[in-house]
Amino acid sequence: MAKPDISALTEAQARAELASLAEALLAANRAYHREDAPQISDAEYDALKQRNAAIEAAFPHLKRDDSATEQVGAAPADGFSKVVHAQRMLSLGNAFDDADVTDFDSSVRKYLGLGADAPLAYTAEPKIDGLSLSLRYEKGHLVQAATRGDGEVGENVTANARTIQDVPETLTGAPDLLEVRGEVYMSHADFAALNARQAETDGKVFANPRNAAAGSLRQLDATITRSRPLRFFAYAWGAVSEPLAQTQSGAIERLAALGFQTNPLTQLCSAAPEMLAHYRRIEEQRATLGYDIDGVVYKVDDLGLQDRLGFRSTTPRWAIAHKFPAELAWTRLEGIDIQVGRTGALSPVARLTPVTVGGVVVSNATLHNEDYIAGRDAKGNPIRDGKDIRAGDWVQVYRAGDVIPKVADVDLAKRPDDAIRFVFPQTCPECGSDAIREEGDAVRRCSGGLICPAQAVEKLKHFVSRAAFDIEGLGAKQVEQFHADGWIAEPADIFSLKTRYGAGLQQLKNRDGWGEKSAENLFQAIEEKRRIPLARLIFALGIRHVGEVAASDLARHFGTWEALVAAVDGAAPGAQCQLRADAAEAAERQAAQRDGRKPRIKATRDALWQELDPAARMAWAQLIDIDGIGATVAVALTTSFQQRAERASIDRLVAALDILPAERPATDDSPVAGKTVVFTGTLEKMTRAEAKARAEALGAKVSGSVSAKTDILVAGPGAGSKAKKAAELGIDTLDEDGWLALIGAV
Ligand code: IVH
Repeated sequence: MAKPDISALTEAQARAELASLAEALLAANRAYHREDAPQISDAEYDALKQRNAAIEAAFPHLKRDDSATEQVGAAPADGFSKVVHAQRMLSLGNAFDDADVTDFDSSVRKYLGLGADAPLAYTAEPKIDGLSLSLRYEKGHLVQAATRGDGEVGENVTANARTIQDVPETLTGAPDLLEVRGEVYMSHADFAALNARQAETDGKVFANPRNAAAGSLRQLDATITRSRPLRFFAYAWGAVSEPLAQTQSGAIERLAALGFQTNPLTQLCSAAPEMLAHYRRIEEQRATLGYDIDGVVYKVDDLGLQDRLGFRSTTPRWAIAHKFPAELAWTRLEGIDIQVGRTGALSPVARLTPVTVGGVVVSNATLHNEDYIAGRDAKGNPIRDGKDIRAGDWVQVYRAGDVIPKVADVDLAKRPDDAIRFVFPQTCPECGSDAIREEGDAVRRCSGGLICPAQAVEKLKHFVSRAAFDIEGLGAKQVEQFHADGWIAEPADIFSLKTRYGAGLQQLKNRDGWGEKSAENLFQAIEEKRRIPLARLIFALGIRHVGEVAASDLARHFGTWEALVAAVDGAAPGAQCQLRADAAEAAERQAAQRDGRKPRIKATRDALWQELDPAARMAWAQLIDIDGIGATVAVALTTSFQQRAERASIDRLVAALDILPAERPATDDSPVAGKTVVFTGTLEKMTRAEAKARAEALGAKVSGSVSAKTDILVAGPGAGSKAKKAAELGIDTLDEDGWLALIGAV
């Protein structure tokens, strides 16, 4: 095909032609992908696309957001590009029974200061078992589609989303900016037909419709996505230039009017009993819906109230997912293996005769810990009526949603005569070190630390995992390989890989599965991750009890790595004292029981704390006082930082990084950023929980008691000793209105 000649085009002509090309290509695409009735020949289509690309190359600044170069077949060759969500895509908290739902309703009411009988409406709708997708429309045109990813950054699947029948290309009468969110899913019928086709052509056969939907949406070649029958239900929105409605139900109606599919089982409920009744109705219809759902989602209907309720770190306070009960199946337990995790925990894993549970083939399940296998809980009380679990047993396996399958029960009538009681190992099966079970801990742990290869590998796998360093091209498999070959022993080694093995890329290039391009990409990906947000670094260290939420709480609180380290080091003597006090308390309880007297717990603990230097006591108190961080996390942090080998390993890592300080919620223009605030007395315009959450969102620290560190006391009617103390200390005291005025909320 001759190259299009665009040398004579003026800028104005180029702009006009790009607009008409966009329209022509859009029409051609729609005819081809949606209606299965092409209106122009492939050659004509290609010519239009080429001309479009040539004009864009000559006038890059004129490239349109809905440019055809972003469409089918144009996905980047080595993976999807990333999209930073304008508003985070969150997940939902879960309710597993009716009581959880009434608790949810009560906590919403409590937060809002509403009585049990005050009117409060919720929507109830099926929870679709697919994958979420965010569609961005600007001036009514679909300009971008992104998967959820980690909630903050997703994958750009625009070309693929355009092939989905339920995703409108253009909207009429929509706000200038509208991000529509919802679920991509595959119907049972389409799933069965796809799998039949796949089996015939030796393609991948999918385990369930959700995997099929995810696998189909995340195709680099959008023409494959086009051949997969995906559907989309809209149920939420992200950034919008103007509100869609005043209520959740109104917003959903608006989305339906704009041309989106919304779920027909969505209903407005006036109170918890109605929500539960609707849950039952949906559950009854579950098997005949023709697509998978895994529960019911309840959302506060009034969007003003949704706003007030806001979010916890990853879930909204105004919604909850009421999950359907777990699915069950019976199968044979072939054996019990012990896996060693990154914190040294010895975890028993059931090897099962494969069985289908809720559409997924299960061949492994967790057995939790040695007590669970033996048929007792952590306190020694019987579980499963005290029945232990043995290799050869007929066992019940269940799974709920995404949770790892569990062995729940055993059928003694089917136990083989020669089945023997399982003996839990007392040494680590990986390194032979003693496996120790501490007082009060359900888990037995390998004491080998970094010399245990299993712990080291698991730590490394965790380090590169998605919520941690997320290094493209360096997943669990590659980490295992590099570790086995002695290339990396600890996280810091990842960042010196290139210096050690990258010379001319020869070494890596010659390894199985690595080519020049992938080796270069890996080194590039590693370089990119030298700059790492503080929260990710903290999470990546894989410290016990420090999950994503605690890591981000710590990052937000301390802002910098240095501040965190100083605080944790300062708190170390306090952590020691805490452990000694816990041990002393346990001993005192035992002694008291033996002597038939009341245990003197406070006195026992106080005696130990008195010995501690006041500054160290304060440092400890400050660490455990951080929102979301308690004594358990604080002890785990200090223990990990105090262990010499581990600390040296962390220091080597940190020296190789450029740590991005956490964005403090404290917006610089917030008048209360960094201030310590105490609320006392009755608040009349908001509840205590709401007041605290709002203050924290503005960067303030909310404390329960007045001290010299307090900056502001907000005193409502009935304030007593705290107000008096604040007055003595000369602390600024405001009433509720004064506080609202200060934070600009009136
Ligand atoms: S609302 C801020 N509604 O469930 C929360 N989510 O477990 C916005 N999901 O990530 C989500 N059906 O992918 C909502 N009717 C529904 C849903 C739904 C399925 C998914 C969604 C979300 C996940 C949370």
